[in-house]
Amino acid sequence: MAPNRRTAVARAGTNIALVKYWGKRDDKLNLPRTGSLSLTLAGLETVTSVSVDPGLQHDHFELDGHIERGVPLGRVGRFLAIVRERAGAAGQFSRVVSRNSFPTAAGLASSASGFAALACAASAAYGLDLSPEQLSALARRGSGSAARSIFGGFVEMDPGVLPEGDDAVAHELVPPAGWNLRLVVAVTTEAAKDVSSSTGMAATEETSPLYEAWVASHGIDLEEARLAVVGRDLQVLGAVMERNCLGMHACMMAARPPLLYWNEATLAALREVWNLRARGVPVWFTIDAGPHVKALCRVEEAAAVKTALDKVPGVARTIVAAPGDGVRLESVG
Ligand code: PMV
Repeated sequence: MAPNRRTAVARAGTNIALVKYWGKRDDKLNLPRTGSLSLTLAGLETVTSVSVDPGLQHDHFELDGHIERGVPLGRVGRFLAIVRERAGAAGQFSRVVSRNSFPTAAGLASSASGFAALACAASAAYGLDLSPEQLSALARRGSGSAARSIFGGFVEMDPGVLPEGDDAVAHELVPPAGWNLRLVVAVTTEAAKDVSSSTGMAATEETSPLYEAWVASHGIDLEEARLAVVGRDLQVLGAVMERNCLGMHACMMAARPPLLYWNEATLAALREVWNLRARGVPVWFTIDAGPHVKALCRVEEAAAVKTALDKVPGVARTIVAAPGDGVRLESVG
């Protein structure tokens, strides 16, 4: 039986997929069609506190100082209902307070750090004792990419084969200190995106004639990327990450109606990465379901990459992020 009153606080870093997940084999359980491989980042974090309060008639959700209602509250409430069911705590609602250190819903994967932190804080607040794998499966119910933010550094997500998805969990490939690369994020707008990942991936799966071809080539991408990470081969990893990302965006663009997350600065930043590479700088990009460009490079080149991307017209600012740790429970009591 869950305790009556308990507060837990957790912190999680966002992660950026170098080999993407796009499309689901089960919508309700949030089971991905493909595996994925990501890098968890330091400094781009969500801190979330969950307070179980017997006086509440429904869940409350505050994000970056705003009281959330509608869709965001609905998502958090449905997630907490899963935790309550497991904890045998039906009817015990919570107050959730979350803070992001970066723009929400603009393609910087705030749902990844958000649901990883929420999974960790909520399970502790409701008295569940979960292993990292169980936490990863739980976080996945909130957002597919959140399953990966449970772990630090380079992480692989397995799509699993079980119908209930207990094997659709992430695991660490290389810890944060194991390969000290940098991801330079070129922020091309501070606005939230129009089409959520869930809506975008459903539309792509249903209507894009290119989607099955991307899925068919995905296994090879994942295998090559995994070997490149384990072998610390940035050249191979970079080539795979660009082709996997461009393939995913090609699928979206071929959807009906077409889905284009890019703006003018996205294309200009992408070209700048190619220009840098033509001049001998080892740097490669990826782009998520949003307009920002994320460039992967060595520590030695990070300052030059940042300077170059800062000069691209339309780039509002850049953030240089190092590999970060997995989710942490900061306090419970
Ligand atoms: O975690 P979701 O459901 O918001 O989807 C994430 C989709 C991508 O960021 C585009 C790819 C990925 O693997 O993170």
